[in-house]
Amino acid sequence: MVQSDTQRRSLHGQWSSRLTFILALSGSAVGLGNIWKFPYIAGVNGGGAFVLVYLVCVFVIGLPIMMSEILIGRRGRRNPIDTMRLLGEEEGGTKRWRVVGFLGVIASFLILSYYSVVAGWAVAYIFEGASGIFVDTDAVGVGEIFEELTGSWVTSGLWHTLFMVMTVFVVARGVKQGLERAVRILMPALIGLLLLLLGYSMIEGNFAEGVAFMFAPKFDELTSEGVLAALGHAFFTLSIGMGAVMAYGAYLPEETSIVATSFAVICIDTSIAILAGLVIFPIVFAYGLDPAEGPGLIFHSLPIAFGQLPGGTVIATVFFLLLTFAAWTSGIALMESPVAWLMESRGMGRPITAILIGTIIWAMGFLSILSFSALADFEFGWGTFFDNLDFLTSNIMLPLGGFAIAIFAGWIMCANSTSDELSMGVGRRYGMWRWFTRFVAPVAVMLVFLNAIGVI
Ligand code: PFF
Repeated sequence: MVQSDTQRRSLHGQWSSRLTFILALSGSAVGLGNIWKFPYIAGVNGGGAFVLVYLVCVFVIGLPIMMSEILIGRRGRRNPIDTMRLLGEEEGGTKRWRVVGFLGVIASFLILSYYSVVAGWAVAYIFEGASGIFVDTDAVGVGEIFEELTGSWVTSGLWHTLFMVMTVFVVARGVKQGLERAVRILMPALIGLLLLLLGYSMIEGNFAEGVAFMFAPKFDELTSEGVLAALGHAFFTLSIGMGAVMAYGAYLPEETSIVATSFAVICIDTSIAILAGLVIFPIVFAYGLDPAEGPGLIFHSLPIAFGQLPGGTVIATVFFLLLTFAAWTSGIALMESPVAWLMESRGMGRPITAILIGTIIWAMGFLSILSFSALADFEFGWGTFFDNLDFLTSNIMLPLGGFAIAIFAGWIMCANSTSDELSMGVGRRYGMWRWFTRFVAPVAVMLVFLNAIGVI
């Protein structure tokens, strides 16, 4: 007998309002992905053409999958593993769907272990920036500052530790006292800081060139790997395909509209990625730096420019503060689903669970840290250990997780359950969601995959 969601309660409570849910979910979505990763992968994949493919992936594949994840989470009201097990049994007669939740929880561990390392650099750069160290420092000098940080596992490890402590601190306090409070302060602050930087970049940067770079499509520079990167990034930036959204959906009040909130979150996330590009590229171009420099774009190129700009010390500090806030609200989301799972399955208290999971992830993080020092020359698969983690999670695990979630919501769950959660009845709008979830999203994910591995 299918139990309706009204009878289920999450152990962890509920979001206080629809706005808090939007803030929490956009806090999860907006992170290093928007400010660090999006500009540099757009930079190396031909700018505008990549942006276009990315936008298509976000709206055509990301939106229906995000809606599916939230509705699954709210219907199950448990952590992703148990929600998938429970709904799998109710809707499809098998508990095996829990594997999807399980892979998602593993992805959370893997992602947070390297995410926290980069977030640690962001925290370190708040202090570097404020110290005025970049002022009049040339490219070589700025390169040395970055090398000193990343090349020393002790220094990098300390900043990574600090970031993990910040994240554990919030998650340990729970949904209302921890997660909600953090996003209510950090998200508005983040938007304020970003707008401030945008104004600055319009005045001091080469804005026209920045805009042209982001929006003029150079299709000849876009390869099939670039298309896969756009797809992987769409999943990564929206935090979908791994149960993080499902975990947040489990705390969503019944009356909140899933359609409207998903749409709002996707628009916020996309706007912030584009605005971040419009802050970064005009500054990069104003100093004749290379937009395709890769992962070092904001830690290496940008500080060279900050060192030359009027008020650069303040601007550098503000920029890395913004990056830290964004990473923090995402780190919290990455920890929530493993923590919820362990609490629910072992009956453990939240603070101890958060510390335990945080410690495991913290320890794993050292493998990524060493990828920039002792293990820098140890390359396999897609590069260093760090590169492999990034590629495996963003470009493989998340799209596959998203594919499975779409199949589950579109084909396994019965139309009554999904239309009930989406409160859409069975009208045209519901029909569209179902069509995108059953056909468009899974087929598109498969096509990009097959294309990237050279089958088509
Ligand atoms: N969406 C985050 C970003 O763009 O930085 C990364 C992320 C956070 C992925 C939370 C997955 C997740 F569960």
